[in-house]
Amino acid sequence: MKIINFGSLNIDRVYSVAAFVSPGETIHADSLRIYPGGKGLNQSLAAARAGADVLHAGAVGPEGAFLLAELAASGVDVSHISRLDVETGHAVIQVNPAGQNCIIVFGGANRHLSASYMDEVLALSCPGDYLLLQNETNAVGNIMQKAHERGLQIVFNPSPFPQNAKELPLELVSFFMVNETEGALLAGLDTSAPKEALLGALAGRYPQAAFVLTLGSGGVEYRKGEQRLFHRAYSVEAVDTTAAGDTFCGYFLSGLCGGRPIERCLAEASAAAAIAVSRSGAAPSIPDYRETVSFLEARRAWR
Ligand code: RIB
Repeated sequence: MKIINFGSLNIDRVYSVAAFVSPGETIHADSLRIYPGGKGLNQSLAAARAGADVLHAGAVGPEGAFLLAELAASGVDVSHISRLDVETGHAVIQVNPAGQNCIIVFGGANRHLSASYMDEVLALSCPGDYLLLQNETNAVGNIMQKAHERGLQIVFNPSPFPQNAKELPLELVSFFMVNETEGALLAGLDTSAPKEALLGALAGRYPQAAFVLTLGSGGVEYRKGEQRLFHRAYSVEAVDTTAAGDTFCGYFLSGLCGGRPIERCLAEASAAAAIAVSRSGAAPSIPDYRETVSFLEARRAWR
Protein backbone atom coordinates (compact mmCIF):
# COMPACT_ATOMS: atom_id res chain seq x y z
CA MET A 1 0.00 0.00 0.00
CA LYS A 2 1.40 3.40 -0.95
CA ILE A 3 0.66 7.08 -0.46
CA ILE A 4 0.09 9.28 -3.49
CA ASN A 5 0.42 12.88 -2.39
CA PHE A 6 -0.80 15.56 -4.79
CA GLY A 7 0.88 18.36 -2.88
CA SER A 8 2.58 21.71 -3.01
CA LEU A 9 6.32 22.20 -3.40
CA ASN A 10 7.46 25.58 -2.12
CA ILE A 11 10.64 27.52 -1.60
CA ASP A 12 10.32 28.88 1.95
CA ARG A 13 11.88 32.26 2.68
CA VAL A 14 11.99 32.37 6.48
CA TYR A 15 12.52 35.74 8.18
CA SER A 16 13.30 35.91 11.92
CA VAL A 17 11.54 38.94 13.35
CA ALA A 18 11.22 40.45 16.82
CA ALA A 19 7.44 40.81 16.26
CA PHE A 20 5.15 40.19 13.29
CA VAL A 21 4.78 43.16 10.96
CA SER A 22 1.59 45.20 11.48
CA PRO A 23 -0.52 46.95 8.81
CA GLY A 24 1.30 50.02 7.46
CA GLU A 25 4.56 49.10 9.21
CA THR A 26 8.03 48.33 7.79
CA ILE A 27 10.34 46.22 9.94
CA HIS A 28 13.84 44.73 9.76
CA ALA A 29 14.32 40.97 9.83
CA ASP A 30 17.16 39.59 11.97
CA SER A 31 17.93 36.78 9.52
CA LEU A 32 16.78 35.15 6.31
CA ARG A 33 17.00 31.41 5.66
CA ILE A 34 15.82 29.57 2.58
CA TYR A 35 14.44 26.06 2.98
CA PRO A 36 12.49 23.48 1.00
CA GLY A 37 8.86 23.59 2.10
CA GLY A 38 5.24 23.47 1.06
CA LYS A 39 2.64 21.52 2.98
CA GLY A 40 2.72 18.81 0.33
CA LEU A 41 6.50 18.42 0.29
CA ASN A 42 6.69 18.47 4.11
CA GLN A 43 4.02 15.79 4.44
CA SER A 44 5.63 13.55 1.82
CA LEU A 45 8.99 13.89 3.56
CA ALA A 46 7.50 13.09 6.96
CA ALA A 47 5.66 10.03 5.65
CA ALA A 48 8.76 8.75 3.84
CA ARG A 49 11.08 9.41 6.81
CA ALA A 50 8.57 7.44 8.91
CA GLY A 51 8.95 4.52 6.51
CA ALA A 52 6.05 4.79 4.03
CA ASP A 53 6.18 4.23 0.29
CA VAL A 54 5.38 7.71 -1.07
CA LEU A 55 4.82 8.96 -4.60
CA HIS A 56 4.73 12.76 -4.75
CA ALA A 57 2.69 14.41 -7.51
CA GLY A 58 2.91 18.13 -8.19
CA ALA A 59 4.80 20.71 -10.18
CA VAL A 60 7.80 23.01 -9.94
CA GLY A 61 9.31 25.66 -12.15
CA PRO A 62 12.94 25.85 -13.34
CA GLU A 63 14.30 27.05 -9.96
CA GLY A 64 12.61 24.25 -8.01
CA ALA A 65 14.95 21.34 -8.84
CA PHE A 66 16.45 21.33 -5.33
CA LEU A 67 13.00 20.55 -3.90
CA LEU A 68 12.93 17.29 -5.85
CA ALA A 69 16.44 16.45 -4.64
CA GLU A 70 15.33 16.96 -1.03
CA LEU A 71 12.39 14.58 -1.46
CA ALA A 72 14.40 11.99 -3.37
CA ALA A 73 17.08 11.96 -0.65
CA SER A 74 14.43 10.72 1.79
CA GLY A 75 13.19 8.04 -0.61
CA VAL A 76 10.14 9.79 -2.06
CA ASP A 77 9.34 8.87 -5.68
CA VAL A 78 9.72 12.17 -7.57
CA SER A 79 9.75 10.71 -11.05
CA HIS A 80 6.25 11.99 -11.86
CA ILE A 81 6.64 15.57 -10.61
CA SER A 82 6.00 17.97 -13.50
CA ARG A 83 8.61 20.55 -14.46
CA LEU A 84 6.87 23.57 -15.90
CA ASP A 85 7.96 26.87 -17.33
CA VAL A 86 6.26 28.89 -14.57
CA GLU A 87 7.54 30.12 -11.23
CA THR A 88 7.94 27.56 -8.43
CA GLY A 89 5.56 28.09 -5.50
CA HIS A 90 7.03 29.98 -2.59
CA ALA A 91 6.21 31.07 0.94
CA VAL A 92 7.16 34.19 2.89
CA ILE A 93 7.35 33.15 6.53
CA GLN A 94 7.88 35.37 9.58
CA VAL A 95 9.02 33.56 12.73
CA ASN A 96 8.95 35.38 16.08
CA PRO A 97 11.05 34.62 19.19
CA ALA A 98 8.28 32.38 20.55
CA GLY A 99 8.61 30.17 17.46
CA GLN A 100 5.20 31.20 16.10
CA ASN A 101 4.83 31.97 12.42
CA CYS A 102 2.81 33.95 9.87
CA ILE A 103 2.83 32.60 6.32
CA ILE A 104 1.97 34.00 2.88
CA VAL A 105 1.91 31.39 0.12
CA PHE A 106 2.24 32.08 -3.59
CA GLY A 107 0.98 29.04 -5.52
CA GLY A 108 2.97 29.36 -8.77
CA ALA A 109 3.51 25.97 -10.43
CA ASN A 110 1.48 24.24 -7.68
CA ARG A 111 -1.65 25.66 -9.25
CA HIS A 112 -0.98 24.41 -12.79
CA LEU A 113 -1.89 20.73 -12.48
CA SER A 114 -3.84 19.62 -15.56
CA ALA A 115 -6.59 17.02 -15.78
CA SER A 116 -4.44 14.82 -18.03
CA TYR A 117 -1.57 15.00 -15.51
CA MET A 118 -3.89 13.90 -12.70
CA ASP A 119 -5.11 10.93 -14.78
CA GLU A 120 -1.54 9.95 -15.66
CA VAL A 121 -0.51 9.86 -11.98
CA LEU A 122 -3.67 8.19 -10.72
CA ALA A 123 -3.22 5.43 -13.33
CA LEU A 124 -0.26 4.33 -11.14
CA SER A 125 -2.51 3.75 -8.11
CA CYS A 126 -4.02 0.55 -6.79
CA PRO A 127 -7.36 0.30 -4.96
CA GLY A 128 -6.75 0.80 -1.24
CA ASP A 129 -3.80 3.15 -1.71
CA TYR A 130 -3.99 6.44 0.19
CA LEU A 131 -4.48 9.73 -1.64
CA LEU A 132 -3.15 12.64 0.42
CA LEU A 133 -4.28 16.21 -0.30
CA GLN A 134 -3.85 19.64 1.22
CA ASN A 135 -5.20 22.87 -0.21
CA GLU A 136 -2.18 24.46 -1.85
CA THR A 137 -2.71 22.99 -5.33
CA ASN A 138 -5.48 23.57 -7.83
CA ALA A 139 -8.25 21.07 -8.65
CA VAL A 140 -8.50 19.48 -5.20
CA GLY A 141 -12.13 18.47 -5.80
CA ASN A 142 -11.36 16.91 -9.19
CA ILE A 143 -8.51 14.88 -7.75
CA MET A 144 -10.77 13.62 -4.94
CA GLN A 145 -13.43 12.55 -7.42
CA LYS A 146 -10.99 10.76 -9.72
CA ALA A 147 -9.22 9.05 -6.82
CA HIS A 148 -12.52 7.84 -5.37
CA GLU A 149 -13.47 6.32 -8.71
CA ARG A 150 -10.25 4.29 -8.54
CA GLY A 151 -10.95 3.05 -5.01
CA LEU A 152 -8.34 5.12 -3.16
CA GLN A 153 -8.75 6.16 0.48
CA ILE A 154 -8.76 9.94 0.66
CA VAL A 155 -6.90 11.80 3.41
CA PHE A 156 -7.55 15.55 3.41
CA ASN A 157 -5.71 18.26 5.33
CA PRO A 158 -7.82 21.34 4.43
CA SER A 159 -5.02 23.86 4.86
CA PRO A 160 -5.17 26.72 4.02
CA PHE A 161 -8.90 26.30 4.56
CA PRO A 162 -10.65 26.23 1.15
CA GLN A 163 -13.00 29.13 0.41
CA ASN A 164 -14.96 26.75 -1.81
CA ALA A 165 -15.18 23.98 0.82
CA LYS A 166 -18.92 23.60 0.22
CA GLU A 167 -18.27 22.74 -3.43
CA LEU A 168 -15.77 19.95 -2.66
CA PRO A 169 -16.94 16.30 -2.55
CA LEU A 170 -16.02 15.98 1.14
CA GLU A 171 -18.36 13.02 1.56
CA LEU A 172 -15.61 11.01 -0.21
CA VAL A 173 -12.98 11.75 2.43
CA SER A 174 -11.94 8.91 4.78
CA PHE A 175 -9.62 10.92 7.06
CA PHE A 176 -9.69 14.62 7.88
CA MET A 177 -6.52 16.02 9.47
CA VAL A 178 -7.44 19.39 10.98
CA ASN A 179 -6.36 21.91 13.56
CA GLU A 180 -8.94 23.72 15.71
CA THR A 181 -9.56 26.53 13.23
CA GLU A 182 -9.90 24.23 10.24
CA GLY A 183 -12.10 21.86 12.26
CA ALA A 184 -14.44 24.68 13.28
CA LEU A 185 -14.72 25.99 9.72
CA LEU A 186 -15.39 22.47 8.45
CA ALA A 187 -18.05 21.93 11.10
CA GLY A 188 -19.62 25.34 10.44
CA LEU A 189 -19.05 26.37 14.08
CA ASP A 190 -17.39 29.32 15.73
CA THR A 191 -13.64 28.85 16.33
CA SER A 192 -14.30 29.18 20.09
CA ALA A 193 -16.58 26.11 20.09
CA PRO A 194 -15.56 23.48 22.68
CA LYS A 195 -13.72 20.53 21.13
CA GLU A 196 -16.46 18.05 22.14
CA ALA A 197 -19.03 20.09 20.23
CA LEU A 198 -16.61 20.39 17.33
CA LEU A 199 -15.95 16.67 17.08
CA GLY A 200 -19.65 15.89 17.49
CA ALA A 201 -20.59 18.29 14.70
CA LEU A 202 -17.87 16.94 12.39
CA ALA A 203 -18.90 13.33 12.99
CA GLY A 204 -22.54 14.27 12.34
CA ARG A 205 -21.70 16.07 9.11
CA TYR A 206 -19.28 13.48 7.69
CA PRO A 207 -20.27 10.14 9.27
CA GLN A 208 -18.05 8.17 6.86
CA ALA A 209 -14.83 9.82 8.05
CA ALA A 210 -12.32 9.67 10.87
CA PHE A 211 -11.10 12.97 12.33
CA VAL A 212 -7.69 13.79 13.68
CA LEU A 213 -7.97 17.13 15.49
CA THR A 214 -4.59 18.60 16.47
CA LEU A 215 -4.70 21.07 19.35
CA GLY A 216 -1.07 22.25 19.56
CA SER A 217 0.12 22.02 23.16
CA GLY A 218 -3.34 20.60 24.01
CA GLY A 219 -2.52 17.30 22.27
CA VAL A 220 -4.61 15.52 19.66
CA GLU A 221 -8.11 14.08 19.55
CA TYR A 222 -9.12 11.20 17.28
CA ARG A 223 -12.72 10.37 16.52
CA LYS A 224 -14.32 7.83 14.24
CA GLY A 225 -17.99 7.09 14.91
CA GLU A 226 -18.12 6.24 18.60
CA GLN A 227 -14.36 5.56 18.86
CA ARG A 228 -12.53 8.39 20.67
CA LEU A 229 -8.86 8.61 21.52
CA PHE A 230 -6.63 11.31 22.93
CA HIS A 231 -2.86 11.74 22.96
CA ARG A 232 -1.01 14.44 24.85
CA ALA A 233 1.52 16.78 23.25
CA TYR A 234 5.16 16.38 24.28
CA SER A 235 6.67 19.45 25.85
CA VAL A 236 9.73 20.87 24.06
CA GLU A 237 11.27 24.31 23.73
CA ALA A 238 9.63 25.87 20.66
CA VAL A 239 12.09 27.21 18.10
CA ASP A 240 9.87 27.20 15.00
CA THR A 241 6.42 25.65 14.72
CA THR A 242 6.50 25.69 10.90
CA ALA A 243 5.66 22.23 9.50
CA ALA A 244 4.76 20.72 12.89
CA GLY A 245 1.26 19.97 11.57
CA ASP A 246 2.69 18.57 8.33
CA THR A 247 5.07 16.34 10.27
CA PHE A 248 2.16 15.06 12.34
CA CYS A 249 0.10 14.39 9.23
CA GLY A 250 2.85 12.49 7.35
CA TYR A 251 3.79 10.40 10.37
CA PHE A 252 0.19 9.55 11.21
CA LEU A 253 -0.51 8.42 7.66
CA SER A 254 2.67 6.40 7.49
CA GLY A 255 1.56 4.60 10.65
CA LEU A 256 -1.81 3.82 9.05
CA CYS A 257 -0.07 2.45 5.95
CA GLY A 258 2.08 0.28 8.16
CA GLY A 259 -1.03 -1.15 9.83
CA ARG A 260 -0.06 0.19 13.26
CA PRO A 261 -2.82 0.73 15.88
CA ILE A 262 -4.25 4.26 15.91
CA GLU A 263 -2.87 4.84 19.43
CA ARG A 264 0.62 4.11 18.16
CA CYS A 265 0.10 6.33 15.08
CA LEU A 266 -0.92 9.20 17.37
CA ALA A 267 2.07 8.69 19.67
CA GLU A 268 4.61 8.58 16.84
CA ALA A 269 3.07 11.57 15.07
CA SER A 270 3.02 13.59 18.32
CA ALA A 271 6.67 12.77 19.01
CA ALA A 272 7.79 13.65 15.47
CA ALA A 273 5.85 16.95 15.58
CA ALA A 274 7.46 17.85 18.92
CA ILE A 275 10.92 17.24 17.49
CA ALA A 276 10.05 19.39 14.44
CA VAL A 277 8.96 22.26 16.72
CA SER A 278 12.32 22.22 18.47
CA ARG A 279 14.16 23.00 15.21
CA SER A 280 14.25 25.75 12.61
CA GLY A 281 12.68 25.47 9.15
CA ALA A 282 10.10 23.21 7.57
CA ALA A 283 11.60 20.22 5.73
CA PRO A 284 14.93 20.16 7.64
CA SER A 285 13.12 19.97 10.97
CA ILE A 286 11.33 16.67 10.20
CA PRO A 287 12.94 13.74 12.06
CA ASP A 288 13.56 10.25 10.76
CA TYR A 289 11.84 7.24 12.27
CA ARG A 290 14.76 6.11 14.41
CA GLU A 291 15.01 9.50 16.10
CA THR A 292 11.25 9.56 16.72
CA VAL A 293 11.25 6.12 18.31
CA SER A 294 14.24 7.10 20.51
CA PHE A 295 12.34 10.21 21.61
CA LEU A 296 9.36 8.07 22.64
CA GLU A 297 11.54 5.51 24.38
CA ALA A 298 13.38 8.22 26.31
CA ARG A 299 10.04 9.31 27.67
CA ARG A 300 8.89 5.73 28.22
CA ALA A 301 5.91 6.83 26.18
CA TRP A 302 5.52 3.60 24.28
CA ARG A 303 6.49 -0.01 24.95
O1 RIB B 1 2.93 24.11 6.81
C1 RIB B 1 4.13 24.82 6.57
C2 RIB B 1 4.25 25.16 5.12
O2 RIB B 1 3.21 26.05 4.76
C3 RIB B 1 5.52 25.88 4.75
O3 RIB B 1 6.57 25.01 4.42
C4 RIB B 1 5.09 26.79 3.61
O4 RIB B 1 5.65 26.50 2.38
C5 RIB B 1 3.56 26.70 3.57
O5 RIB B 1 3.13 25.91 2.55
